[in-house]
Amino acid sequence: MAAQELDATGRALVAEGKGILAADESDGTIKKRFDSIGVESTEEKRRAYRELLFTTEGVEEYISGVILFDETIRQSAADGTPFPKLLESKGIIPGIKVDKGAKPLALAEGETITEGLDGLRERLAEYRELGARFAKWRATYSISDTLPSEYCMWTNAHALARYAALCQEAGLVPIVEPEVLMDGDHTIERSFHVTSRVLFAVFTELADQKVQLEGTLLKPNMVLSGYDASERAGADEVAKETIRCFKRHVPAAVPGIVFLSGGQSDEDATAHLNAMNKLGPHPWQLSFSYGRALQAAALSAWAGENVEAGQRAFYHRAKMNSAARSGLYAPEMEREAVSA
Ligand code: 13P
Repeated sequence: MAAQELDATGRALVAEGKGILAADESDGTIKKRFDSIGVESTEEKRRAYRELLFTTEGVEEYISGVILFDETIRQSAADGTPFPKLLESKGIIPGIKVDKGAKPLALAEGETITEGLDGLRERLAEYRELGARFAKWRATYSISDTLPSEYCMWTNAHALARYAALCQEAGLVPIVEPEVLMDGDHTIERSFHVTSRVLFAVFTELADQKVQLEGTLLKPNMVLSGYDASERAGADEVAKETIRCFKRHVPAAVPGIVFLSGGQSDEDATAHLNAMNKLGPHPWQLSFSYGRALQAAALSAWAGENVEAGQRAFYHRAKMNSAARSGLYAPEMEREAVSA
């Protein structure tokens, strides 16, 4: 029964035309986002901003689940409805970020290990009580000529699998997020190679630690040229290389791959997902779990007070990414935002 529930939740999160909103910015990250629009990051402002997102009318047509931060899962809408209840009432599945961030990896200059395993079993039980049905853990890897090291890849893969196993034991679908960062001037070939090694380590550890792939979602980077590369690959090449990489490493038992946006522009993140889905059908659903690429326009339209404009921008972005789920997005559709 527990396995069936995980399966059903995993599939619901990648239901046709839908994807995930990552609204799980830690205190430090949300402060950076608020700084960029000149808004002070107080608990009430953070609550009000998240309420704007969650109460956007009709967005449930495009959004299957929302990843929350510890503070947010305990907060409520202005009318007193706890956020997890509010989301559930719209048919949106509440999720929770459970890692405690990337910290320097000992004896490995420039590399990180994600912490948060101690006490995780107890925290997961509490989050389930609070309404969470899925969780997220993010590992990060920087690319240089020599990095990431195999040491960094395997230690993070081990931790990701320990987290995933604990989630499944607690009845939560784990989103496993190994993020190869795209800062730097590396080629798309180098990104392909590093992403391949990272995925190989992650799926080896998941298998060794008995994680049921049917009840697991993968949240990876796309295979892209480094942001400072002199010649950056276009959307068709990104789509082709990303699919080639994932076909080699991601078992078909995984119901869905939900990409992170990782600093791509809103429209690039949508166009890349669209180009990949145009090449389908694929063994897994290809969807989104975007943070910045779903929220950047909403944040600046809101600017701390304009709720309606923020909701309009968020709704539009969610709709564009929903179209990209089936390869039906076209840049002309961006104009709808203006006329809406
Ligand atoms: P971005 O889409 O902004 O990369 O955020 C997704 C996320 O959840 C990172 O952990």
